[in-house]
Parts: sequence; structure tokens; C-alpha cells
Amino acid sequence: MILLKLIIVEDSEDDALLLSLELKRGGYQVEYLRVETSEELRTALKNDQWDLIISDHVLPDFSAPEALNVLKESGLDLPFIIVSSIIDQDIAVAAMKAGAHDYIMKDNLARLIPLVERALYNSNVKAEGKKALEKLRKSEARFRHIAEHARDIIFRIRLYPDLQAEYITPSVADFIGYTPEEIYNNPNLGFEVIYSEDKDMFTKYMSGEISFEGPIRTRWFHKNGNIICSEQNIVPVYDEQNRLVAFEGIARDITEQVNYEQKLKNSHARIEALSKRILEAIEEERARLARELHDELGQALTAVKLDLQLLNEFIPGDEKSERHLKQSIDLIDFTINLVRRLSVSLRPPALDDMGLLPAIKNMVNGFENRTGIKTILSTNSFTERLAQQVETALYRCVQESLTNIARHSNASSAEVDISKKNGILKVTVSDDGVGFETDKMVVSSEHIGLTGMKERIKLLNGKFKIDSVPSEGTTINIEIPWQSWLKEVKTDESTACR
Ligand SMILES: Nc1ncnc2c1ncn2[C@@H]1O[C@H](COP(=O)(O)OP(=O)(O)OP(=O)(O)O)[C@@H](O)[C@H]1O
Ligand SMILES: [Mg+2]
Repeated sequence: MILLKLIIVEDSEDDALLLSLELKRGGYQVEYLRVETSEELRTALKNDQWDLIISDHVLPDFSAPEALNVLKESGLDLPFIIVSSIIDQDIAVAAMKAGAHDYIMKDNLARLIPLVERALYNSNVKAEGKKALEKLRKSEARFRHIAEHARDIIFRIRLYPDLQAEYITPSVADFIGYTPEEIYNNPNLGFEVIYSEDKDMFTKYMSGEISFEGPIRTRWFHKNGNIICSEQNIVPVYDEQNRLVAFEGIARDITEQVNYEQKLKNSHARIEALSKRILEAIEEERARLARELHDELGQALTAVKLDLQLLNEFIPGDEKSERHLKQSIDLIDFTINLVRRLSVSLRPPALDDMGLLPAIKNMVNGFENRTGIKTILSTNSFTERLAQQVETALYRCVQESLTNIARHSNASSAEVDISKKNGILKVTVSDDGVGFETDKMVVSSEHIGLTGMKERIKLLNGKFKIDSVPSEGTTINIEIPWQSWLKEVKTDESTACR
């Protein structure tokens, strides 16, 4: 049974009892307090909690309108029903206007239960609504508090029927120098301060020409004239006619990050230019040394040898002198050979004269002879001549890979493959040696071979990859878009002769 706690404003105890009996008949467990003055009502409202007030219309020292006033003063919102024998229509309407929920005649108490039920229901709905509203208000206040203190900028911009910033967090002032009020007061301000080149993107977005997926970057003019940068996620808002009416989003100041990225980019570009220059300088110096060794030293030694051979004819019969002379000529022969080999290793003439493949073929043969590691050179006949820096880079990469195999791999066999497919030249150097853990590779000044290869290939817009697993060997993979590096054929080209 539902407990109903009510105040009955009534001077007759019998009438109050009658009302309570009627309510009990309706299935309520009734607890009531009868009051007949404003003071008693005030005290009752203050001291306890009630579900309902039923009031007689006129009492000797009190009345329903006065009781309603007391209820209003208390700030409570209880259902109030007037039950009276002498109520007339006008008075009833006035009482309803003053806040009573309903009225009935004492001789028609059968209406009391449905009336009470309706009043309680309405009161409950009202209370629930009030509670929900309060909850909503609190949660909105909570979110507003978070938003107002967030460093990111939270915004909602109305696009239809007119352009207007509807909400923007105060953090916008730190970012762009304008306060939310300045932005609310000038609907175009937000658009005006977008950096000229980025405006187009927003115009297209607002006209529905493009949509934003994921975060977008925008540059803005700060009030102080600086250019600043933000990254924002924007969500479009559509109405029932599928019209873009607003957009909402969160923006973040990334000016520092962008400046840092730019600095990093510049410094990468500088390093790239520097390593390109260093690699070129190394090659130029090697070529110069190779030429000097071959042309200057080689020729000087040959001249000395010819002189010594001539001298031999002037020292007849002196066995000791002849022996010394022969030893000197042999030493010069040995030195001429050494100089030639040194010259070739510094800059193999085959690379310039015959091209990449023959030069690598010589290298592979030499490697196999020197190390005893069986090495296959396979190719699908790549015969094109490429720009000198490309041939040099690829030659040096294969050279470094083979040197690494000899030094670190303990391999019994190796393979160099040079093949072209779909505009890509693929060069791989593999071995069946000990392999290594590539992710544990340390870059240091003592191990620059692989890093150097990577740099060389990067400068050619190529790809460089190391596949290596401990105990399973190593493969160096290089890919170059060779067609863009085809050697320009010059008609007056002279072939270097060494
Ligand atoms: N084919 C290979 N087999 C096994 N380990 C290898 C192979 N190639 C490279 N490594 C490992 O990778 C490391 C780095 O090679 P990298 O060529 O960069 O330097 P390095 O050969 O040690 O010195 P350098 O600077 O003279 O070339 C080597 O020290 C070695 O441990
Ligand atoms: Mg090395």
C-alpha cells in the first residue's frame, strides 16, 4: 500500500477523518495532520515532508487562498486540492490561478481519488523534470568549466541562416589574440584572420564542395601580425533538410610544433646537401688520386724503368752491378703493378669506360679470388648506361656489401643480382653467412658502411633495405627508378684512357 502523507487544512475533525477514510478506500495508507491556522500550516511544512495538501475553502480563521500563500512562501511545490461545500465557480477559478491543482465539492468525494492520483502523478513528473533539469544544468556547468579551462579551442560556428560564432572557448584569446566577445561581435572576424592561402579551403568547405576527413592544418594571422598555425578536427552539423548549418570542432595551437618541423626539415635538407657534397668530393678525390697515380707516378716509374734498362747496356760484364740493376727493374715492375692496382681500386676504369655491369663483374671476380667465397653475378642483361653518380653509387654499394660479407658474414657463398623490371633497377647482394639483428645495429663513426649506402641511395630517390636474420644470412636490397637516371649521350664525349 502506498503511504500518503498529507496536511488537511480543515476546522472539522470529522470532515478530515472523512477525507482520510475516502483516501484509504482508494488504497492509500494515510497519515495526516489537520491544521486550521497559517501558523500551524507553516510549522507543519517546516517540520516534516508531505505528499499533498487538501484544504477546505473557508475556515473560521483561515482560508484556502491564505493556505496557498503560506505554501508559496515555504518554497515547496506540493499538490494542493481544495475541498469545500460552499465553493462557487469564480472562487474556484481564482484559487486555481493562485496555484491550487484542483477542487471538488464535499458532497462529491468520489472524485477525490482520481484527483489525488492525477495531482500526485503531475507532481512526480514535475519533480522528475526538475531533477533532470538540475542534473542537466550541473552537467552543462561541468562541461563548460572543463571547456573554459581547456588549452584547446572548442568552437561551434553557425553557417545557416547566417555566419555567426555560437560558442568559442576563452583559450582562443591566447591563440589568436582576439577574445570570444570580439569574435561574437564580428561574425566575419574568424574568416578574416585565416591566412590568405588557406581561406580557399574553408570557402570550399562551407559551400559543401569539400569535406574534411581527419585533422586539418590552418594558418592564421594573430592580432599582433604573426602567423600562427592550428590543427583542428571539424564535425559538420546538418539540419533535417540535410543542409550544412554549422560546424563544431576542437582546434589546437601547433605553431611551435610546425616551426620545429620546419627547422627539422631545413636541417635534414642541409644534412642531405652536405652528405651529397661529401660523397661527390670523395669520388672526385678518388678519381683525381687514381689519375695522378696512373698518369704521373705510373709514367714516371715507366720512364725510370726504361732508363735502367738503358743503363744495363752500359755496364757489360759486371755481374754484381747487373744483379743490382735487375733487382731494381723488378722492384719498379712490382711498383708499377701496385700503382696500377691502387689506381683501379680507387676508381675502376671499367666503371667509366664500360659501365656498371662489367665493372661489377670485375669486382665480383676479384672478390671471389681474394676471399674464396663462391660468388654468382646474375642479371637480366642490364646494359643501359646511367648517370655517373648513379653508377658510382651502385658500384660503391655493391663494393661495401661485398666487403661486409668478407669481414663479418663468415659466408661460404654470395650472390649479386642486378635486374630491371617496370622501370625499377633492383640490385641485391646476399650471403648465406651468420646474419645480424638489424634493429640492434648501432650507428657510430666506426660503422658507417651501411649508413653510407643508405645515404647514397636516398640521394638517388631510391629505396634501401636490409634483410638479415641471425644464422640465416643477409640481403641488401636496393631499388632505383633507373629511367630518370639514363646517361645523357654527348657527341663529343671522350673516353678516359688509362
Ligand atoms: N653481410 C653481413 N653479415 C653479417 N653481419 C653484417 C653484414 N653486413 C653488416 N653486418 C653487421 O653490421 C654492422 C654494420 O656494418 P657497416 O658496414 O655499417 O659497418 P662496418 O662494416 O662494421 O664498418 P665500416 O664503417 O668500415 O663499414 C657490422 O659491424 C656487422 O656487425
Ligand atoms: Mg662495412
